Amino acid sequence: MRPHKLENQSPAAEFPASAPLIDSYARRIDYIRLSVTDRCDFRCVYCMSENMNFLPKADLLTLEELERLSAAFVARGVHKIRITGGEPLVRRNIMQLFRGLARLFDQGLRELTLTTNGSQLARFAQDLADCGVRRVNVSLDTLDPEKFRAITRWGDMARVLDGIEAARAAGLKVKINCVALKGVNEDEFLALVEWAHDLGMEVSFIEAMPLGEDAVHNIESFLPLDVVTEALSRRLTLSPSTHASGGPARFFDVAETGGRVGFITPLSQHFCDSCNRVRVTCTGALYTCLGQEDRTDLRGPLRASMDGAALHAALDDAMRRKPRGHDFVAQWSGALAPSKRPMSMTGG
Ligand code: 5AD
Ligand code: SF4
Repeated sequence: MRPHKLENQSPAAEFPASAPLIDSYARRIDYIRLSVTDRCDFRCVYCMSENMNFLPKADLLTLEELERLSAAFVARGVHKIRITGGEPLVRRNIMQLFRGLARLFDQGLRELTLTTNGSQLARFAQDLADCGVRRVNVSLDTLDPEKFRAITRWGDMARVLDGIEAARAAGLKVKINCVALKGVNEDEFLALVEWAHDLGMEVSFIEAMPLGEDAVHNIESFLPLDVVTEALSRRLTLSPSTHASGGPARFFDVAETGGRVGFITPLSQHFCDSCNRVRVTCTGALYTCLGQEDRTDLRGPLRASMDGAALHAALDDAMRRKPRGHDFVAQWSGALAPSKRPMSMTGG
């Protein structure tokens, strides 16, 4: 690690440029998903129980710490940051963080994005666009307001649709994430694709993953995505797309609509070989794999000093330990206990 000065430097410039993050399977990490809160204004059945206990505020990384951490990752060659939660837009003063992260575009950051439930988007869409956000992923599993209420328990679909409209009006590209749920939204896949493509939005279908307290419930509602592909193929012409996100999604172009559909299949397809990402929870725990328990504390090193040395050492250590792949299949088959860690903790 090169020596560096702290004086007169903005938080974004505090860490030295150093070696890229490469794990022991030669995978280069250039993408972080950073959760900024475990809280949410919805209680989706596959994600949270109705009476969730949230973390005490003191455990969370402060907005300044989130910014310093992001700067350290960017210094190590990360060029894409996705802000997640919980619901990131319910974190107080969240735009302060986005404004800070916008400064990292000068330091190597190429893409700043977020995953949101859309409930607060109408309020924040323009600010996000002003901070250099170009694309947002909005979770929407149904177009039926009653089903929406049943899935999210607390959500109001009209607000989400307003949020999506505001995002589009602000020039953001919107992608819809839809969790495929057996017996719940099975009859809506075609309608969702047609609706989204009509508005120029991509849709990705996601398999329900066995995460969190309600993991068993997720296993029950698990719907393999080939069922979705089949349902869509009856009415639409899908052809494999050359588009690649570097993640677990496979994409298809739809001839009739000119749009694109993605399938995110963590269970039925292994995608770990090309994994380029790590996740950081809102308490600063670095998970190098969504499906594994191994984690590295970054909050301690971040708080220990403004000097990035401890933090960079922790990152190097985590890279050495990044597992080869997840254990979802073993968990699903019952061979291993499902993870107790919900999506709202690790970030979607
Ligand atoms: N399995 C699959 N997707 C999930 N999400 C939340 N919990 C789960 C789960 N257990 C989804 C949300 C959102 C994204 C962040 O992750 O619906 O689209
Ligand atoms: Fe909130 Fe997203 Fe979890 Fe639903 S899936 S409860 S919107 S964090």
